[in-house]
Amino acid sequence: MRIDIVTIFPEFFSVLDVSLLGRARSDGLLEVVVHDLRDFTHDRHRTVDDTPSGGGAGMVMKPEPWGEALDAILTPVSTVVVPTPAGRLFRQPLARELADREHLVFCCGRYEGIDQRVVEWAALEHEVLELSLGDYVLNGGEVAAMAMIEAVGRLVPGVVGNPESLVEESHEDGLLEYPSYTKPAIWRGLETPAVLLGGNHGAVDAWRREQQLERTRRMRPELLDDPEL
Ligand code: ADE
Repeated sequence: MRIDIVTIFPEFFSVLDVSLLGRARSDGLLEVVVHDLRDFTHDRHRTVDDTPSGGGAGMVMKPEPWGEALDAILTPVSTVVVPTPAGRLFRQPLARELADREHLVFCCGRYEGIDQRVVEWAALEHEVLELSLGDYVLNGGEVAAMAMIEAVGRLVPGVVGNPESLVEESHEDGLLEYPSYTKPAIWRGLETPAVLLGGNHGAVDAWRREQQLERTRRMRPELLDDPEL
């Protein structure tokens, strides 16, 4: 998979060099290219924003640098992702869908967002997804893009060494994951649940399922009747 990122803060994405995704990049499973939006400006101040049409607070990202950047980056197989708190919620089923795409292009807006015509124009010939990480506002799309890239990247075949570890995770079957324990069996007076030490795999599976249901009921009851999951 190839991922292009357009941002005014390319240095945000240096964390993509480390950990699992860093290895996936050096192994050639993921190709990630970060572009500075200001490289697509032509004025001395490398201006990327202007006042909002119709008035109001804050600044809006000008369409021209975005148009030039996307002209240089988009191919016929590109999917464009615009992180925005005004988007559809980014969830695990979509992460799984995006892991099958050949080319993702993340457009990271700042200020009050990107001139909406950039989305309209890109959607003429490409799939464009305006996606929110959650119901809170970040200072820009960079942190949201990072989270989405990690969620998608780890589902690309080969990135996570043992694919079985992806199966029993939270949200994969619509429920939260069961709690995990390791040795020692007693730590600071707290015991590991006896069923996990008994060697009865059927009993372990039943206990874990019960824990998933109990935890989901307690933490995220709305997931239990969520048709998307
Ligand atoms: N940009 C600012 N806030 C955001 C959010 N919650 N999700 C995605 N992008 C954002």
